[in-house]
Amino acid sequence: MQMKNNFRQKLHLEPSNGWLNDPNGLCFFNGEYHVYFQYSPDSAEGIGRKCWGHWCSPDLLKWRFTGTVLLPDTPEDRSGVYSGCGFVKADTLYLFYTGNVREEGNHDYITSGRGANVILVTTKDGHNMSPKKVLLRNADYPDYCSCHVRDPKVWEENGRYHMVLGARTLAAKGCVLYYISDDLENWTYDRTIFGEDESYMWECPDAFTLGGISFLSVSPQGVPHEKYVFQNVYSSGYFTIGKDGDPENYREWDKGFDFYAPQSFDAPDGRKLFIGWEGIGDIPYSNPTTALGWQHCLTLPRELSVNDKGNICQTPVRELERLRIDGTAVNNGAAVSAELPFEFVGKCIGNFSIKLSGVMTLKYEDGEFSMTFVSESAGSGRTVRYAKLAECTDIRIIADTASAEIYLNGGETVLSSRMYPEDTQITLNSEGVEGILYRLGWIEVITDE
Ligand code: FRU
Repeated sequence: MQMKNNFRQKLHLEPSNGWLNDPNGLCFFNGEYHVYFQYSPDSAEGIGRKCWGHWCSPDLLKWRFTGTVLLPDTPEDRSGVYSGCGFVKADTLYLFYTGNVREEGNHDYITSGRGANVILVTTKDGHNMSPKKVLLRNADYPDYCSCHVRDPKVWEENGRYHMVLGARTLAAKGCVLYYISDDLENWTYDRTIFGEDESYMWECPDAFTLGGISFLSVSPQGVPHEKYVFQNVYSSGYFTIGKDGDPENYREWDKGFDFYAPQSFDAPDGRKLFIGWEGIGDIPYSNPTTALGWQHCLTLPRELSVNDKGNICQTPVRELERLRIDGTAVNNGAAVSAELPFEFVGKCIGNFSIKLSGVMTLKYEDGEFSMTFVSESAGSGRTVRYAKLAECTDIRIIADTASAEIYLNGGETVLSSRMYPEDTQITLNSEGVEGILYRLGWIEVITDE
């Protein structure tokens, strides 16, 4: 059965209209998961008011969109309710975000003309917000910072509260500012962490401990492109924090075309979960949904773990396995018909290739994995992305109607990309791989408004 693809995702959160970027305020609070996001309800191109939209879910499968919950309606956030985080304490959810202000006049908006305020709101139900309280202004940041300071992420450690902020110095260097507090409202500057990369700005920092290792996640801008790293306009990855507190061993979170500004959060059962924006700003490719009235989605929620090399592995949250309807064995060399959305779980034997007809070819050959779109329309301008891998033992593909997430080697390497096949029915050809192809049900999204 040939079914024309309308590009409405079946597994990924996306707005029904307008533009989405970063996930914000991710948490488990009051018996539910809360996913806020950067939302421009007025335009699929991201023009106009920048707000926070809000979904919540008891199980990461049934979602409710409760609407636009934070709007740019005060002097301190009048040009945008920018990215931020959620922190749960007792019966209250604390939301910290950046109030963006563009002043009138002749400014470069880097060294002058931009206000970046850390603002706090609290909520008892995730939807109705307290009045806004400004906690930090540009004057509270170190003198060497430009006006670009944003995206607070807060956590508790050793009985105190900690906050990281992404920043650009006046000398155009990316860095992270650390602040400390005893009451979540009064914050004292502690230190700055610089990397050794060539970026001019680090956006959306996150700091967390996993498997006894401290990690710092950042989304650097301005790093020169190379074949196997920094392939996209902006990068996103994590450092290990060494004993002396320095960031070491930057590894990119994702090698696909569409991944940026991720955030980690804790599930009540102790799992470290993780969601990114399945998109990037200022891309040289496009998304045909824009003409249909919406643009961008979030990645699937993922579980994080650390492997024996000290690298973080990402796997789709196990809740998604409940969407599996039935599985078909796929033998080495087989061509099977698959209806989107689907999941393929395979074991690889040396070099291999998987062809998704009319969409892309995934190939592993002599240490190089590649994802190649087969036509201009299927990738909407996306071409090829690479990952260098000493070996590739397993592959897991979750293909939605308009995106694919590819997990290699137990999720040590991931590639996330939007895709735009004309039909929802495709053929999967495997060479050097055998596995199981699952038909998948859909997540449920209802809207309050
Ligand atoms: C990252 C980002 C953040 C900012 C937000 C604005 O994509 O640029 O740094 O807070 O988006 O929408």
